[in-house]
This record gives sequence, structure tokens and C-alpha cells, in this order.
Amino acid sequence: MPPHISMVIIDSDKPSRDVIASIVKPFSDTIRIEGEVSDFGEGLKIIQKSAANIVILEVSDLNRGIEEIQYLLANHPKLSVIVSSYEKSTEWILALMRAGAVEYLLRPIVQDELIQALTKVGRFWFTKPPVETKAGKIIAVYYPTGGAGVTTVAVNLAAGLASDSIKVALVDLNLLTGDISTFLDVNPSYTLSSVTNNIARLDANFLMGVMTQHSSGPYVLTEPTEVDEAIDITPEQVNRLLQFLKGIFDYVVVDCGGQLAGCTMAILENANLTLFTMVLSLPTIKTAKRYLTAMERKGIRKDRLKLIVNRYLPKADIQIKDAERVLGQKVFSTVPNDYEDIISSINKGIPLIKLLPRSSASKAFENMVSLLKKDLGE
Ligand SMILES: Nc1ncnc2c1ncn2[C@@H]1O[C@H](COP(=O)(O)OP(=O)(O)OP(=O)(O)O)[C@@H](O)[C@H]1O
Ligand SMILES: [Mg+2]
Repeated sequence: MPPHISMVIIDSDKPSRDVIASIVKPFSDTIRIEGEVSDFGEGLKIIQKSAANIVILEVSDLNRGIEEIQYLLANHPKLSVIVSSYEKSTEWILALMRAGAVEYLLRPIVQDELIQALTKVGRFWFTKPPVETKAGKIIAVYYPTGGAGVTTVAVNLAAGLASDSIKVALVDLNLLTGDISTFLDVNPSYTLSSVTNNIARLDANFLMGVMTQHSSGPYVLTEPTEVDEAIDITPEQVNRLLQFLKGIFDYVVVDCGGQLAGCTMAILENANLTLFTMVLSLPTIKTAKRYLTAMERKGIRKDRLKLIVNRYLPKADIQIKDAERVLGQKVFSTVPNDYEDIISSINKGIPLIKLLPRSSASKAFENMVSLLKKDLGE
């Protein structure tokens, strides 16, 4: 689907044009910049040629600004003009809005205000045409405490599932120790809390705007930057977010952990499958037993729960069959212990499955991907 909004920036100040461009960059799925120019005449030509629907116009002289807006609207009645100016006076604001501007941004332009203005102006294009609704599958990768390899599995699985025709979301809902941004070496301006803070106006286009596609394929929504923001996220918000995501993506892979309560329960209840990711050690098996029992009690059916053994060493003291016997469940998939390759992929910020597709762990992830596709296909 082509971007719904095509935009022209007319601004005499190059740094300001760059700021605007960088603010809308994460929204490239919905907003295309047709041109960034300093001169009104030049901007006009681009608007004519591209049939742009939004112009961000710098106004530094009131009368000239009014004339320019009137000229633009007389020739392009469907255009929305957003004015940017250093002038704070109501006289200016009123005069320019009366001339037909739809929004007035005070310079220097700040991210939140520009996005707010664009969302307001763009609602018309954001909602039409409607985005196709999918019946995506939610896969939760879970272990209550740290270090079992939840993020390693989530990141590789998401990258393995994604393709040109299969859209995958990778969401870090590990609210205590989220680390997808580290594993994928991304530093997005929008994180999970940008979404939960805007839950009221959540829609498909907003979500696509704040999620960045990683070079390995999935669209990522990373953990909140501040610990405080994570505390504020509620189970209702998680619920709503997941419902939305599965309407847009074929697969939604969620990195999660912690106790079986609150947000984590909201994830597990929404998940079509939970991949309980563990290692074969005595303490882990003990923890796994307690949690698997509790999950069953809480209504997470066994057929929606798969055991993943990570860091698998065939010659280790504890064998798969021992774990299966204690846990009363078959192991769905194993990932070999491959420390060197895994660490090098984390350091490079690229999932192993893409970095070293022939490594033994990558093959295990590929295998897991096809098993999951089969399991969820039914
Ligand atoms: N298959 C593997 N072979 C060897 N080492 C691994 C493997 N999987 C993960 N590791 C190592 O274990 C460490 C923990 O993995 P990971 O961060 O994926 O776990 P986690 O469950 O997400 O932990 P956290 O609670 O920190 O989020 C990583 O630093 C990684 O180097
Ligand atoms: Mg993790």
C-alpha cells in the first residue's frame, strides 16, 4: 500500500527542514516527503507535480504568509497547510488560520507537536483506506526469570518467520529487563510506552508508524527506555496492544518473563502458543515444574504450551527424557549450546539465523520456525 500522506516542506532554514524530515522518518509507511525546499515557488512546483496533500510552510512575514496560504488553497483545495513560525501572537495565529492553515507550529519545531499536528490533519488519510485485518498468531516466548535465552529465541524466531509476504512483529514485553533493543542494536524514538501512552488513539497506522522494521525482517517495538514507564503499563493496555497487533501482523512474537500475574498473564492468555524456554539444569527444571503446573491451573492449556530446551548439550548429565518425565510433557524443540556464535550475533546486533545461517543453532531455529508454522497453520 503506498503512503497515504505526501508532504512538501517549504522552509528557508535547512536544519529545520532536516528536523521535520527526521521526525517523520519513522512514519515512512504512511508519510512520503515529496520535497524539502527553501523557496515557495519551487515548493509550488513540487506540490503541483506530486499532488501532495500536506505542506509544512514556514511563515516569517504575516502578509506574505496569508497570500501564500490563499494561493496554495485556491489552486489545491484539498491541500492541508501546516504553518511553522517563531511568532507567538494570537493575531498571527488567527490571521493564518483564517487564511486556511489547519495547524500552527511554533518554531523551533518539536517532535511531539509535529506528530500531533500530522495525526490530526492526517486522520482522513490514516483511516482510509482501511487496513486489512489479519488473524495473526501470537507467540509468547517465556521463562519466569532471567538467562534462559528468551530473548535469543524470540529474536531468531521473529527473524526466521519474517519474509516478504509474512509480516512479523517482535515486541519486548519483558518489562523488567527488556533487551531486544540491545540484541538488535536499535535505538528507536518510539518504544512500548509511546504506544501504551497513546492507547486511546491506537490504530493500525499509528502502530505501523511507531514500529521500525529491523534489517532482519521483523517490525520491532522495544522495551520502554525508563524503568518507571514499564511500571505504568497495565494488563488492559497489553491486551489492547496485542489485539491490534494480531490484526496487522501474521505473527506477533512477544518476549516476556516474570510472575504469572498482571501484564504477563495478559500476554499468556492472548498467546496462541507459549514457548516455555528453559535450560536443562536442576534448578530450572524445578522452577519449570512449578510454573507449568501453575500455568495449567490458570487455564493455559497444555496444547498451547511448548517446551524449548536452549543451550542443549547432548552429553550433559540431565537428558531430555529426564526433563520430559519430570515435566510430564514432550520437548518441542532444542537449540544447541553455541555460545561463541550467539555472543557474536548479539554483539553485531543481528539475529544468528541471519548472521550465520549455517551455524548449528541457526539450523535449530529454522527447524523451530517450520514446526511452529505447521503447528499454527491448523
Ligand atoms: N543457545 C545458546 N548457546 C549458548 N549461549 C546462549 C544460548 N542462548 C543464549 N545464550 C547466552 O545466554 C545469555 C542469556 O540469553 P538471553 O539474553 O537470550 O536470555 P533471557 O532469557 O532473555 O535473559 P534476560 O532475563 O536477561 O532477558 C546470553 O548472553 C547468551 O549469550
Ligand atoms: Mg531477555
